[in-house]
Amino acid sequence: MAEFTLPKNSKIQKGKFIDVSEGAKTARSFKIYRYDPESGENPRWDTYKIDLSKCGPMVLDALLYIKNSVDSTLTLRRSCREGICGSCAMNIGDGRGTNTLACTKAINDFKGEITVSPLPHMPVVKDLVPDLNHVYAQYTAIEPWLKTDTPAPNRERLQTEEDATILNGADGNGPAACILCFCCSTSCPSYWWNADRFLGPAILLQAYRWIADSRDEATGERLDQLEDPFRLYRCHTIMNCTNTCPKGLNPAKAIAEIKKLMVARR
Ligand code: SF4
Ligand code: SF4
Ligand code: FES
Repeated sequence: MAEFTLPKNSKIQKGKFIDVSEGAKTARSFKIYRYDPESGENPRWDTYKIDLSKCGPMVLDALLYIKNSVDSTLTLRRSCREGICGSCAMNIGDGRGTNTLACTKAINDFKGEITVSPLPHMPVVKDLVPDLNHVYAQYTAIEPWLKTDTPAPNRERLQTEEDATILNGADGNGPAACILCFCCSTSCPSYWWNADRFLGPAILLQAYRWIADSRDEATGERLDQLEDPFRLYRCHTIMNCTNTCPKGLNPAKAIAEIKKLMVARR
């Protein structure tokens, strides 16, 4: 019988408990995944109990308070702190976690201790920072720029309002609004197991963004690139991607649209 053993560093250990909430009217504990692959030590859960009056209302505010005032070794990514850059994506929950943006997720959306860990099924650079090299290589592979053969007009390539709405969405939630946070791809079971060959919902949504662009002249070539049992067809419409997108986008629908175009051109 086959015997599977988890790698040594997959066993998460209990870490330290730091309580800096003395005198707080409202205190909250944050249980945070800590891992430094270069240390040779196993990952651990460190818990910080903090006074919520010392930080802003979002989970990112609490993490930055911990980093700036309690434990400067905590490592995380963030930039815009308003849901635009996608860099603070992580898994957050008070039970079963969900992939979301720490900067737009309110602490009060949770009850009790809040667990924070990096986006699942990605290698970890350190603590809450996933290694995005592979997803960005996949992004590069779909050639995410306007491809044209016809000569460029004097000013710009125009588009009807109707065509622009396909990209932007009627409520601003079209594929062009994707911030590449990868919450969707890292919640997709097909992507967990086939990330080497399946492009995953974030990249397929981006692929659709260029396929659907009325100004792009490489639609056939783009569809040829996706016509593959793994790159596109590993999506089994499980819908985790759409359910988790913190921007309210619908990558599963974008994938379905690509599949429809594949059928239509046969
Ligand atoms: S709909 Fe497709 S891409 Fe989205 S989670 Fe399911 S399998 Fe993954
Ligand atoms: S579709 Fe949504 S969850 Fe996926 S990368 Fe784009 S913004 Fe993030
Ligand atoms: S910090 Fe930019 S999306 Fe959260």
